[in-house]
Amino acid sequence: MFDAATARQLRRTDFPPDFRWGCSTSSYQIEGAIDEGGRGESIWDRFCAQPGRIRDGSSGAVACDHYHRWPEDLNLAQSLGVNAYRFSIAWPRIQPTGRGPALQAGLDFYERLVDGMLERDLQPWATLYHWDLPQALQDQGGWARRETVDAFVDYAGQVVRRLGDRVRHWITHNEPWCTAFLGHAEGNHAPGVKHFGTAIQVCHHLLLSHGRAVPVIREACPGAQVGITLSLHPIHAASAAPADLAAVRRHDGLRNRWFLDPLHGRGYPADTLALLGHLAPAVEPGDLAAIATPTDFLGINYYFPEEVADAPGHGPLATRVVEREGVERTAFGWEVSPDGMVALLTRVQRDYQPGPIYLTENGSTWDDHVGPDGQIDDPQRLDYLARHLAAAREALRQGVPLRGYFAWSLLDNFEWAEGYTRRFGLTYVDYATQRRTLKSSGHWYARFLRA
Ligand code: FCB
Repeated sequence: MFDAATARQLRRTDFPPDFRWGCSTSSYQIEGAIDEGGRGESIWDRFCAQPGRIRDGSSGAVACDHYHRWPEDLNLAQSLGVNAYRFSIAWPRIQPTGRGPALQAGLDFYERLVDGMLERDLQPWATLYHWDLPQALQDQGGWARRETVDAFVDYAGQVVRRLGDRVRHWITHNEPWCTAFLGHAEGNHAPGVKHFGTAIQVCHHLLLSHGRAVPVIREACPGAQVGITLSLHPIHAASAAPADLAAVRRHDGLRNRWFLDPLHGRGYPADTLALLGHLAPAVEPGDLAAIATPTDFLGINYYFPEEVADAPGHGPLATRVVEREGVERTAFGWEVSPDGMVALLTRVQRDYQPGPIYLTENGSTWDDHVGPDGQIDDPQRLDYLARHLAAAREALRQGVPLRGYFAWSLLDNFEWAEGYTRRFGLTYVDYATQRRTLKSSGHWYARFLRA
């Protein structure tokens, strides 16, 4: 399903008139200016400084220099024809050490940015945490420590009290799975910890900080629309063998249900808790109720499905992600599967009825080349985008209350452990000159949105 030629014919009018159209970015990946405005050190500054952590030895120190070039970047977003822009706030710009009164320069920066969005008819969607924890908090234990929950709630309150008169859409966390497991189990993201039990406790603190921040955000911003963004994956068995089929459920338990269940008032999944045994998180009375605080929408970042096999002895879940042969993959090796997006969205709706759903990220990376005419022709990214929009439309047809789509990303940017080697942008960034050029995928999105 979802062949490219048909998908390219899709029209904006195939979607409901009030559907939100956007693009996404995040602070550390684009801002640069790490020493300006009194910004404190973040865990990503520290992590990038350690040899061997980032594939090309780079960091977000300059990135897209968005801190200085944001008017141009918002003009770009406006030229696409989107009516929403998702960005994130760098905690170390607000509280350099993660505690104490907010820094005016930090708040001023985001206030100017938000005003810039409003002037361009871009509805601001602010993410409070997209992975750049103040290093000072990490030095005290970071997300593994329960006190960081209080620090986050305080930070969230200070930001929303200042920006809540103009930002109504708030996302507490971006992809807590990644913060927890890439950052604390696999160790290939900041802070680079490799300890499975720590990752489990970190998950709990992230979810708790989300739930505890929700009422604080609502109080500071009457009428706020508050949600969380999860990275979710449809999961398939590597073979029809019963052992592999059973592995799917175990893997799904930690990848998807570990977040969806407690957010929807079901507590942590019993089967996964049993597998974790003594690695289960320390949960205090009231935590689960706080995590289940009702929200206004669920943000889903969808990139790829996963295929798993039974793998006795391979961690507490005894599963292993395998790479199926002969499937389409992006330059990152991520499987391309618009069908997977439909399967995921219909599953979430069937199992949880979360209320309005927004795709807060979706996109792909390819090896882009600047042509002799200075243009970037990226048919694969264009097709990925068009086919996933077709999938979004199909999910709507099947009754999923999908209310918006945000493309990842407005700009090529610092792709975490991959440095600048992975380009996800609808806009090409020449990092030597900071010149931005809309790729053909960006031109297509703009034509689609303007038609
Ligand atoms: C997501 C992240 C985002 C970006 C994309 C490619 O997991 O939220 O920052 O790195 O992947």
